[in-house]
Amino acid sequence: MKATIAVLPGDGIGPEVTTCATELLRAVADKNGHEFQFVEGMIGGCAIDATGAPLPDETLAICEGADAILLGAVGGPQWSDPTASVRPEDGLLKLRQHFGLFANLRPVKTYPALVEHAPLRADLLQDVDILFVRELVSGIYFGDRQEQGDGDVSHDTMRYHRSEVEQVVNVAIRAAQGRRKKLCSVDKANVLASMRLWRRTVVEVHEEYADVELEHLLVDAATMHLLTRPASFDVIVAGNMFGDILSDEASVLAGSLGMLPSASLRSDQFGLYEPVHGSAPDIAGQGKANPIGMFLSAAMMLRYSLQLESEARSIEMAIDAALADGLRTADIAGKSGNAVSTSEFAAVVASKL
Ligand code: IPM
Ligand code: MG
Repeated sequence: MKATIAVLPGDGIGPEVTTCATELLRAVADKNGHEFQFVEGMIGGCAIDATGAPLPDETLAICEGADAILLGAVGGPQWSDPTASVRPEDGLLKLRQHFGLFANLRPVKTYPALVEHAPLRADLLQDVDILFVRELVSGIYFGDRQEQGDGDVSHDTMRYHRSEVEQVVNVAIRAAQGRRKKLCSVDKANVLASMRLWRRTVVEVHEEYADVELEHLLVDAATMHLLTRPASFDVIVAGNMFGDILSDEASVLAGSLGMLPSASLRSDQFGLYEPVHGSAPDIAGQGKANPIGMFLSAAMMLRYSLQLESEARSIEMAIDAALADGLRTADIAGKSGNAVSTSEFAAVVASKL
């Protein structure tokens, strides 16, 4: 098949892991007779430096013309001045909103090879396999906001429309049907009105799906349950901010934030794929980045936007094989200290396709 992929490397370790991913995708294409065209665009801090805007029109046009978007990371200390009028993160938020990518899928699973290095007891981590479905284009991230410069008051608003909750809960519940048929919805319905709407809507949507077991957790309790009984969760659905926080917390289960991929989807096949880790400016340019989160994001792109399931599996299996061989980047090397560089790790994964 032929596909056009918009590639937005961004800031920090974004470019390093993105280069590895496009090389891996080229190898996948060659092996399977596909033609992938990669078109690169700027986003985030580097785009602010070059054009003044975190998401230049040219980048949007590239994305409009593509079948899917592969994104590295945005942000860094040089752009985090609280009084700045534009921020790298605005580019990412605008991109998600522009394309209406309302369902953010963040799978978290434990790798047997990494369990011994995890900060949690190994027996708790047995069989952890969670899919977070985070609402991505509404809630407090996009509600009414007022920023008063250096004034004494500012506000953000958590707002949801029933239809916004419905569409993301539908994605989550259907995903659960194809998995272990359990859905946990996270909210703060004991305090927030928008979260009572959330819970009511979840209950209503669930009425059509008798085969899926439904549990509600308040977000504060959810943070605790995630660490004390992680293996009991199947699909977790949450609003924009709670999903952001819980998915970072859950990365501890996988051994490193560097392991986690994400897909941001809407109702058709178009999607944005990015690792969860962010720009990690402290290790940028040193060959220390873990490319797994990015590789798994590329695999999700093959699966969801390009319908290439067996090619997606081939990437996931190559990563498993590299880990089984004992190959580690610095973040998952534990006390052994035997870490390979980003590009060395990537080369081994490619050789195992
Ligand atoms: C994420 C990130 C973003 C978010 C930032 C970079 C805007 O933390 O994708 O989880 O908060 O959504
Ligand atoms: Mg986050």
